[in-house]
Amino acid sequence: MSANFPHLIDLDNYPVESWNNIVNLAIDIKRHQHIYVGACSGKIMATLFFEPSTRTQMSFQSAMLRLGGGIIGFDNPATSSVAKGESIKDTTKIASSYSDIVVMRHFIEGSVKAAALTADCPVVNAGDGGHLHPTQTLTDLLTLKAEKGTLSGLTVGFCGDLKNGRTVHSLLKALSRYDNNKFVFISTDELKVPDYIKDIVTSSGKSFTEVNSLEDAIPSLDVLYMTRIQRERFGSAEEYEKQKNVFCLDSKKMELARKDMIVLHPLPRVDEIALSVDDDPRALYFKQANYGMYVRMSLILSVINRDIRSQPLLTGKELPDVKCRNPKCITALEPSLPHSFRNCNGVLECEFCDERITDRQCTLY
Ligand code: NCD
Repeated sequence: MSANFPHLIDLDNYPVESWNNIVNLAIDIKRHQHIYVGACSGKIMATLFFEPSTRTQMSFQSAMLRLGGGIIGFDNPATSSVAKGESIKDTTKIASSYSDIVVMRHFIEGSVKAAALTADCPVVNAGDGGHLHPTQTLTDLLTLKAEKGTLSGLTVGFCGDLKNGRTVHSLLKALSRYDNNKFVFISTDELKVPDYIKDIVTSSGKSFTEVNSLEDAIPSLDVLYMTRIQRERFGSAEEYEKQKNVFCLDSKKMELARKDMIVLHPLPRVDEIALSVDDDPRALYFKQANYGMYVRMSLILSVINRDIRSQPLLTGKELPDVKCRNPKCITALEPSLPHSFRNCNGVLECEFCDERITDRQCTLY
């Protein structure tokens, strides 16, 4: 990454050029793996996973092992001191003092940024609640670059849980930064893309349409990005029951798609893609997961020796009577954290979870 920002919390902290550098380095690593063996010899990565994971955790671990480094960490907080009530802050402080890079996944929005505030080494966001998932986005960018040859001029359909899917939010933010992309959002009314993400898309000059029929949308797409309904983010089992099984990509729907359309999915799949689609050459989700390992090798190499004092994590301001109103934000749960807001075109935006306070104009700075 050309930018000086030490951690990877949100890709927006870096110029697009640096995302391209990571993607291009990953392509080189995939082609010439032998050159990179031992590149992280003597280095240690800590993976702190407070939420379940298969691909993200294993691809990071495999990436570090292939680079010659070592790994420590946990994927079951019940076996760490978290079970005794230790705060994210203290756990991160300790893990970062034993390692050269910390990779963290947590169920609370903004929690990885909060963790990075006290870390002694670079911290990577491996998913923070329903908020962001920047390393999946790097995986998706690499897959698109390698398989479609470009990150621009694409019509991308997103289908499923567009409200709670952090991979959708991160990827939409990223693809909005490339030229001439168009988006089709395919979801139920309850699971639409959040307004703040739609604002980012429109203010970047990109257009989107919202539909509720996969059949109608599929013929126009270059890329179909399927997602799972995020059961763990629902308030009740009944709400989830109403949403599950609404969309299912099957071979019949694939017949309506273009011959060069590709199907991506961050995985895990539940029942939104029929097994019969796996044999279709346009179904690239397993290949996509494999690209994830190379992009994480590239990311580790780009981040590992970064000076964490190079740039402050919080650049906004605290306002005397304003608090983030998102109950899923880390600031609602960790009283010691500042309620820090940035000024986004006159609107206050929480620096941890990006929640906007729209009924109050930011006139203070
Ligand atoms: C995604 C996640 O954890 O957000 N999985 C992944 O990292 N590959 C998608 C999901 O869980 O649905």
